[in-house]
Amino acid sequence: MNTSGAPPDGKSVEHLDRAVIFLGPPGAGKGTQAKELAKHYGVPHLSTGDMLRENIAKGTPLGIKAEPVMKRGELVPDSLVLKMVAQRIEEPDCTHGFVFDGFPRTVAQAQYLTILLRQHGYKPALVVHFVIDPKLLLRRITGRRMCKVGGEIYNIYERPPKCDLRCDHDGGELEQRPDDREEIVGPRLQAYERQTEPLVAYYRRLGRLHEVNAAKSVDEVKRQVLDIVRGAR
Ligand code: AP5
Repeated sequence: MNTSGAPPDGKSVEHLDRAVIFLGPPGAGKGTQAKELAKHYGVPHLSTGDMLRENIAKGTPLGIKAEPVMKRGELVPDSLVLKMVAQRIEEPDCTHGFVFDGFPRTVAQAQYLTILLRQHGYKPALVVHFVIDPKLLLRRITGRRMCKVGGEIYNIYERPPKCDLRCDHDGGELEQRPDDREEIVGPRLQAYERQTEPLVAYYRRLGRLHEVNAAKSVDEVKRQVLDIVRGAR
C-alpha cells in the first residue's frame, strides 16, 4: 500500500506553497530529508552547499571565491550567498514553494530571507530544526559519500550502496566531499555553533520553529517532518 501521500506516477497531489527551512548542524540529515520532502511535494530542493559546489566545479567567479572558504570549514560571506539565493528563487520552478537546506545560516541571512519571501508573496517560512547529539555527527559526516552524477547521499557505515562505491540509482561514482575530512569537521561544527545556532532562538521567538529528533532512522525522521509540514497548513 502506498502510504506516502504521493501517487504512483510520482506527481504530488499535495501542495507545499511555502518555503520550508531545514536548520541543523552538519551531518544532521538535512540534505537527505530535503530531497525526500522536495520529491514528495514536487518542488525544488535548494541546497546552498550544492549550489556553491556547482559553482566551484564550473570555476565561476563565485566558485573561485567560495572554494578556499569552504575548504577551511568556514561560512561563505553573506553577500555572495544572498545574491545566489535571490536569483534562484526567481526561477519559475519555485512558484509552488521550495525546501531550503543549509540556508539561512546567519541572522543576517534570515532577516534578508523574510523580506525576500514577503516581496515574492510567500507565507512566512516553516522552520524544521534537526535536533541531534553532536557525538553522532562525526561518523555521519566522515562516512558520507555522494553520487557524482545525481547527488544521491549514502553513508558507508549507516546507509551503504548495494554495490561498492557506485550509486544504486544511476551507477554513478561515489565520492567524499573535501570538507568531510575529519580535520575539517571541527571548524564546521564551530562555525555552526557560533553563527547558525542563534537562528534556533531567532525562529523560536517568531513562533516558526518545529523540532525533529534527527537521531532516529531516515524513515522515522521523514515521518516527523511530514507530520510537521502537513500540520502547519
Ligand atoms: P552544506 O553543504 O550545507 O553542508 P552542511 O550544512 O554542513 O550539512 P551537511 O551537508 O554536512 O549535512 P546534512 O545535514 O545535509 O546531512 P546529510 O543528509 O548529508 O555546506 C557546506 C559548506 O558550504 C559550508 O561549510 C559553507 O562553507 C558553505 N555554505 C553552504 N551554505 C551556506 C550559507 N547559507 N551561508 C554561508 N556558507 C554556506 O547526512 C549526513 C550523513 O548521514 C549521510 O551520509 C547520510 O546518509 C547519513 N544520514 C542522514 N540521515 C540519517 C539518519 N537518520 N540515520 C543515519 N544516517 C543518516
